Amino acid sequence: MPKPFTTKDQYFYLAKAKNLRARSAFKLEEIQKKFSLIKNGAIIADLGAAPGSWSQLLSQWIGQKGKIFAIDLQEIEPIASNVQIFCGDITDFKFLNKIFEQKITGAVADLAPKTTGTPDADSYHSAELNHAVLDICQKYLHPNGFLITKIFQGEEFVKVNC
Ligand SMILES: C[S@@+](CC[C@H](N)C(=O)[O-])C[C@H]1O[C@@H](n2cnc3c(N)ncnc32)[C@H](O)[C@@H]1O
Repeated sequence: MPKPFTTKDQYFYLAKAKNLRARSAFKLEEIQKKFSLIKNGAIIADLGAAPGSWSQLLSQWIGQKGKIFAIDLQEIEPIASNVQIFCGDITDFKFLNKIFEQKITGAVADLAPKTTGTPDADSYHSAELNHAVLDICQKYLHPNGFLITKIFQGEEFVKVNC
């Protein structure tokens, strides 16, 4: 019998112990360990950043010469001097144009739509958010930049080997 899903797993308690705002921090840590994408001095958009655990880690990895633009529909408590916080919708380009005055060197997106309980609808909305993320990258990401993104695995998701 599968174990019931609980958010209060070992990562929940580890996040608390490390003063990280969400257990999702460990996903980003794992990606960074594997691919070393985030470098000192990077300028990164954190799309769907609340409550802020990814930005907490990014802030440490990029150092004082780097900058994070942490964006979410929800308010985010201040993180560090190299993290600028913006409350708004990542699909609103009028809002984004005011934020990005220079090209970013990376984008990370841990976006989650408001779930409806209907898997097809939820994965569709997750895919829609990812279309917006790709538009953002097309417009603001440096040609040699990187993207880390999350998508719910529904019909819209096509698996590739990497
Ligand atoms: C899983 S949480 C992100 C957790 C974050 N990575 C962390 O480590 O703290 C997903 C976030 O996506 C945000 N979100 C969903 N749709 C959005 C949109 N259109 N614009 C901005 N943020 C959005 C939600 O408000 C939510 O805070």
